[in-house]
Amino acid sequence: MKGVVFTEFLEMVEARFGADRVDDILDDAQPASGGAYTAVGTYPHGEIVALVQALAVRTETPVPALLRAFGEHLFSRFVQAYPRFFVGMTDALVFLAGIEDVIHAEVLKLYPDAELPRFHVVLHEPQRLVLDYESSRHFEDLAEGLMRGCVAHFGGGIQVHREAVAPAHRVRFVLERS
Ligand code: HEM
Repeated sequence: MKGVVFTEFLEMVEARFGADRVDDILDDAQPASGGAYTAVGTYPHGEIVALVQALAVRTETPVPALLRAFGEHLFSRFVQAYPRFFVGMTDALVFLAGIEDVIHAEVLKLYPDAELPRFHVVLHEPQRLVLDYESSRHFEDLAEGLMRGCVAHFGGGIQVHREAVAPAHRVRFVLERS
């Protein structure tokens, strides 16, 4: 997993819970890499999972809620770090419909070793987007947070919810204008 995910996670932990919490969860999780993450590095996915789990224990907050909050934070950081992805972009549903073929496709050019999920556009209407998420990392809660961060960035007014879908390894998100 790219280092930017780790550095942004630890920055969020520091901002919300304090610098001591960062030290605590690094102590608890004992990442094999040593925990001195840099944005340009690449680290095992298991290390971010262990850090999130450690934070869940320390803060008595469920992992899914932490991943959603992290996703929202991460999206706002992406807006700052990658302004060119937002040029001429005014609508959350249009942006999210292009996550696979436009945004993550560009991310892969920047970082050829990025481990990205797959997003399938099932339906894209002006009022409604149905997006299936698929990844061996099962970061659907992070995906939900990123979607909510995206909706907030473009001014809100869109409900995000999940629907059951077969095959079970996909997670379906339905985004509807309210
Ligand atoms: C400008 C916007 C975005 C940029 C620059 C971006 C970039 C990235 C990068 C660099 C990673 C890490 C890849 C790795 O660790 O190897 C990542 C992972 C991920 N991205 Fe994006 N992303 C953006 C928007 C989004 C949005 C809006 C969503 C949700 C719809 C999303 C869903 C995810 C998920 C869930 C992962 C974790 C990996 C996985 O689930 O397998 N991203 N993205």
